[in-house]
Amino acid sequence: MRYAVVYSSKTGNTKRLAEAVRAALGEAECVYFGPPDPKALETRRLYVGFWTDKGTCDADTAAFLSHTAGHRVFLFGTAGFGGSDAYFTKILDTVRAQLPEGAEEAGGWMCQGRMPHAVRQRYEAMEETPRRSAMLENFDQALSHPDAEDLRRLQETVLTAL
Ligand SMILES: Cc1cc2nc3c(=O)[nH]c(=O)nc-3n(C[C@H](O)[C@H](O)[C@H](O)COP(=O)(O)O)c2cc1C
Repeated sequence: MRYAVVYSSKTGNTKRLAEAVRAALGEAECVYFGPPDPKALETRRLYVGFWTDKGTCDADTAAFLSHTAGHRVFLFGTAGFGGSDAYFTKILDTVRAQLPEGAEEAGGWMCQGRMPHAVRQRYEAMEETPRRSAMLENFDQALSHPDAEDLRRLQETVLTAL
């Protein structure tokens, strides 16, 4: 089963997921592994990874998805906020809606991803409110992700979705 892994990753979180996908499926059949590129479209089966930007996938991923008609697409991604499956489901639904007509959706999976320290410093500079505390708590919770358990669960989902 030939496949391609296409991922967009600014700070490395989604790249780690992409590597886990390739490790689960085996390198031998992987015809493309890297950022969005027309080369990936040589194979029907695509694993597309994104980072979350304003509640949906990053712009590079969105542009790539628009060319996936006729392909089978598994979506995976990371988001700075987490702690609730409902949040991830909502993002995945939004990204899925960007698949063009004729693309076959093969499933999806998301987890939290650590954010740069500058984000915490920005929160720290805010006035003390319950919202600020929640944002700091979320930031600290994200620091360990993606972790080994995230990667294992992603691999399990990918293999089930074959
Ligand atoms: C400009 C920008 C916008 C972001 N918007 C969101 C967002 O709307 N929701 C969210 O949960 N995380 C958001 N994040 C956090 C990233 O999605 C998160 O850190 C992700 O794991 C980064 O993935 P990467 O390491 O593969 O680049 C944003 C990050 C940046 C830099």
